[in-house]
Amino acid sequence: MSFKKNTLPQHIGIIMDGNGRWATRRGLQRLIGHKEGVEAIKRTINIAKEFDIKILTFFAFSTENWKRDKSEIDGIFQIIRDYTNQNVEDLCKEGVKIVSMGDLSKIPTDLNKKLQEIIKKTQKNNQIVVNLAVNYGARDELAFAFNNLAKQGKTEIKVEDITKNLYTKNLPDPDLIIRTGGEQRLSNFMLFQSAYAELYFTKVFWPSFDKKHFKKALKEYQKRDRRFGGNHKKTKV
Ligand code: FPP
Repeated sequence: MSFKKNTLPQHIGIIMDGNGRWATRRGLQRLIGHKEGVEAIKRTINIAKEFDIKILTFFAFSTENWKRDKSEIDGIFQIIRDYTNQNVEDLCKEGVKIVSMGDLSKIPTDLNKKLQEIIKKTQKNNQIVVNLAVNYGARDELAFAFNNLAKQGKTEIKVEDITKNLYTKNLPDPDLIIRTGGEQRLSNFMLFQSAYAELYFTKVFWPSFDKKHFKKALKEYQKRDRRFGGNHKKTKV
């Protein structure tokens, strides 16, 4: 099956689940699974570029992930730190623009600074946008948006007002959300923005997610009839 360009998603959101299970099934520590997860992120960015996908959003750390052991939380933050330290040159060479979403005021100050640095250093890149969701939760984001609107003195709130005050105010809604690891739920990810996103679930653990899995998700997406509440294409009026 070939891929018709105009039917490919512009923005894909990815819930990278299964890192822990990938590791424990191999007798490894969970953090090794998260480290391998970074390799899958790099792989996915390259494949997405081949398909001219414009935006990838990766769910790296959720507002609920604070419930995990401190060692795992610190480990994930260290992995993100390493990524920002080690990949700036490659990201620039590959035209990757990094942005982020989430409440960065609650993550370690130095990591917040590192993220701001990489965002600044890659801001002119224009091949693909990679949006890192760090300390992100959709309910938290909605509270953030409504608090902004309250501060602006808004009383009559329109949908557009909410959209303009989300972390994603500069990004289009995701067309496709992929969740690896076998669970079939959104887990507080982009709840407002995913109103009309196509959902794709796969049992593959995130560290094993590769080009063939990605192509399978795109093929499935191309089979979907996106109506946004309108008629079936084949329905007569
Ligand atoms: C879910 O798998 C994964 C996470 C909570 C963390 C994902 C984080 C990374 C891949 C590192 C992010 C790095 C960058 C550069 C953005 P899980 O641990 O819940 O897996 P399980 O369900 O098998 O236990």
